[in-house]
Amino acid sequence: EWPRRVVSGLQPTGALHIGNYFGAVRRCVRLQDKGDDLMIFIADLHSLTTHQDPAALQENVLDLTACLLASGIDPDRSVLFTQSSVARHSELCWLLTCLATHARLAHLPQYKDKSAKMKEVPLGLLLYPVLQAADVLVYRGTHVPVGVDQLQHLQVASQLVRTFHHRFGRTFPTPKPLLAEDGSDRLLSLRDPSKKMSKSDTDPKSCILLTDSDDTILLKLRKAVTDFTPQVTFDRENRPGVSNLIAVHCLAADKLPEEAVEEADGLDTGRYKRVVAAALSEALGPVRERAAALRRRPELLRDVLRHGAVRARVRADEVYESVLARVGL
Ligand code: ADP
Ligand code: NA
Repeated sequence: EWPRRVVSGLQPTGALHIGNYFGAVRRCVRLQDKGDDLMIFIADLHSLTTHQDPAALQENVLDLTACLLASGIDPDRSVLFTQSSVARHSELCWLLTCLATHARLAHLPQYKDKSAKMKEVPLGLLLYPVLQAADVLVYRGTHVPVGVDQLQHLQVASQLVRTFHHRFGRTFPTPKPLLAEDGSDRLLSLRDPSKKMSKSDTDPKSCILLTDSDDTILLKLRKAVTDFTPQVTFDRENRPGVSNLIAVHCLAADKLPEEAVEEADGLDTGRYKRVVAAALSEALGPVRERAAALRRRPELLRDVLRHGAVRARVRADEVYESVLARVGL
């Protein structure tokens, strides 16, 4: 049996929204705090599958580093680094691309959606799940915190592990998904609760950002789309907008939906939005302030990343040596 190791990556593509924060960052912090061996990287190579301005990319890497530290990632207990600083990700990716098939990758729904909107489809977009597999396998990661929509990509990783083993012998653990039990892996757009909250949404009021002020949080929540029933009840199927507010409240205040609904007793959705805004401000305010303070110390942030890269390289080198030997290189 392989020792448990959690691997997670986040793209440096601008301010995090509360879906990213609760669904990805805070989950990682909680795994770390429970004692997991956590490798957390800034997926700068992945971000290049869409156009990135070089200067903005450097700023975004530092912004994300500040956010991760402010959220509670401890660079002594966890390994925090940028993907591009560990060349083994790309090197293992190449070996895996030789085992992956075009047909399998071209059938993945995320690829189909994204490529359908493009005239020229970069190959990197097709290979994205192979690089994701390399990100995890290069550390012999056993567990990956994911949302439901990432499960297919993890299946690509499992299949690559099987193919690799079939040809070269047992080398990697098969990475398993860690799904959120609290619904944090799927916050909905505030403007259209039939969609996920997403950075790529063109309506800025669809997301609450980690950088938003208390006033902005309240404003965006006030504009959040609900329905024509004033009572606050939890019913994801029939009342997605109101249920999403309850989900936000629960994540912000560490409550169960029953408890949030009880607290909302006697309030209409309009007044309940203020309760949610207050809970969210209380949860995010300290993170936002710590992130802003850290962001004013870019040298410290770069040091943290350098230190993480050194530790990550040691781990990746060890795995990659054995991979090369298996393959006959
Ligand atoms: P986006 O869809 O906003 O571009 P990413 O795809 O970069 O976000 O996702 C980064 C992380 O945040 C992933 O772990 C993903 O599962 C999580 N995440 C993204 N959107 C949401 C959401 N609406 N609710 C919960 N978690 C989310
Ligand atoms: Na996404």
